[in-house]
Amino acid sequence: MCGIVGYVGPREATPIIVEGLKRLEYRGYDSAGLAVIQDGRIEVRRDVGKLTNLEKVLAESPVHGNIGIGHTRWATHGAPCPRNAHPHVDCRGEVVIIHNGIVENFLSLRKELTGEGHRFTSETDTETIVHLVEKYLAESSDLEEAVRRALKRIKGAHAVVVMSSREPDRLVAARLGNAGGVVVGFGEGEMFVASDMPAILEHTREMVFLEDRQMAVVTREGAEFTTLDGQPVVKEVYTVPWDPVSAAKGEYKHFMQKEIYEQARSITDTIRGRVDFEAGRVCLDEIYITPDEAKAFERMFIVACGTSAYAALVGKFIIEALARIPVEVDYGSEFRYRDPLVNERTLVLAISQSGETVDTLAAMEEARRKGAKLLSIVNVIGSQAARMSDGVIYMQAGPEIGVASTKAFTASLVDQYLLALHLGKLRGLIDAARMKELVEDLAGLPNLVGQVLGDSNNYEALAAEYFKRENFLYLGRGINYPVALEGALKLKEISYIHAEGYPAGEMKHGPIALIDENMPVVAIATRDRVYEKMVSQIEQVKARDGLVIALATEGDDAIADKADHVIYVPPTPPLLSPVVNVVPLQLLAYFIAVRRGCDVDQPRNLAKSVTVEGRGAPP
Ligand code: G6P
Repeated sequence: MCGIVGYVGPREATPIIVEGLKRLEYRGYDSAGLAVIQDGRIEVRRDVGKLTNLEKVLAESPVHGNIGIGHTRWATHGAPCPRNAHPHVDCRGEVVIIHNGIVENFLSLRKELTGEGHRFTSETDTETIVHLVEKYLAESSDLEEAVRRALKRIKGAHAVVVMSSREPDRLVAARLGNAGGVVVGFGEGEMFVASDMPAILEHTREMVFLEDRQMAVVTREGAEFTTLDGQPVVKEVYTVPWDPVSAAKGEYKHFMQKEIYEQARSITDTIRGRVDFEAGRVCLDEIYITPDEAKAFERMFIVACGTSAYAALVGKFIIEALARIPVEVDYGSEFRYRDPLVNERTLVLAISQSGETVDTLAAMEEARRKGAKLLSIVNVIGSQAARMSDGVIYMQAGPEIGVASTKAFTASLVDQYLLALHLGKLRGLIDAARMKELVEDLAGLPNLVGQVLGDSNNYEALAAEYFKRENFLYLGRGINYPVALEGALKLKEISYIHAEGYPAGEMKHGPIALIDENMPVVAIATRDRVYEKMVSQIEQVKARDGLVIALATEGDDAIADKADHVIYVPPTPPLLSPVVNVVPLQLLAYFIAVRRGCDVDQPRNLAKSVTVEGRGAPP
């Protein structure tokens, strides 16, 4: 979970940057570094581990200057070591960069740049960006222009801050897609840049948030904002309120909204440090399963509650496809009471955002008692579920505050994909070439989610049209059937509209009786092997005067003639499609609930974490 801090002004940059990075420590990292311009030269200090290690390096070898950038890193490409820590410099030591994101085309760029004589000193994808800036700087000698050109060459979603000793009075910051935010803070004769507000809140409450494909050139006098294409943009300065809850919500009205929009970044964070894209390798050593053990598993159970149980249903498809272990999914509350067939050749996986849900914990105890190998996918570090497991895969999604779970759902899907790849490899089912393809699919995922979050689908208009309905049906098939369940759950949890998710093929066996002109049907009809069948379901709903909101793949114009509304999503590899497809359903539920005036973050009768059996939340 990379953190970014930048400073330009009259004060010493180093302590401001280090303090700012400390305020982002909660996001987690494996190394840290900073660069300051001292006497016209770029000085870089980096180290692995905690920030105190970087502080020791700085105490032994101090740097002084009034402009600088700092970064905390979670490894994606290349192991955590000082060489791979940010900032990264170009060949001449004149340009330096910090970065959050994954350069999807970094292999080809690295080849091109190496061929042109650039020398790489790290294994990171980030280093390609600084060499690109160097290359374009040689042609135009304008830092802003060179950054612009470099960013147009890289694929994926990114936040970057660049500094050059040739123009020692400015920082160039940019955001591409939704891999992470860029906040520009306005002080008195000094300016700040950060990935997250807490890093700079002690210095200023006047902030500007960069949108997708926007850049800022920041000097101590202020900042100029442009699009990536160079068009000037007028940005509104947002004053962060003093109370801590509003401050934590930032520019969003609700935590749930913030958490939905955070997903491109939280997914990047979930992947971070677990995938070596260059070698095509998944690193999940923390679950301690040997190849022999993995080959001996006869079956797997996934136990969970609520949204996590729907994540588990998606996981069944992914794990059966990639690791070829038969998977059964059960609610925590059911598993413990049915004497499940579990033995020491059974793998039991618990999924829980909080790691404290009592029904899930009880199911885990039952599994343990029967001798199963016990893993968990958990968001809250050190929670009960994490402590009682043989191995834990953390979601790395950051704190989830909205009661209705959103970013934990997508993070747990990504974790299950990683687990499936790991098990598939251990069981000898995925060769190197296939593994490379599968991890490449993952590399593109944050950007696809970012596209959905940044697109122009008009959820507010849809909400205005549908918010008075009292029933909704959600239909999906295959791996997107659980997404229909989750879409319906989101709507009922926060808007109190009755909503049901159904496998589309079951329509004819009952639910079709419900269809008339008052029944909105949300149909997940993205392009995959069951697409034609979904289209035929849509036709059947329309033939009975139902209202259809279709979720379809960009470019599918034909569906617009059949459905009343179409929400488009980018084409996505099938096993990862639930991660992308659930996002519009979260947004639809959110905007409908807001329109109905509901308490989105704390819906009635629900609690974030249910730690007692058989009772709901306290009133
Ligand atoms: C509660 C929450 C749900 C959540 C479920 C499971 O019911 O309201 O949003 O999905 O618990 O929580 P867990 O923390 O175990 O994922």
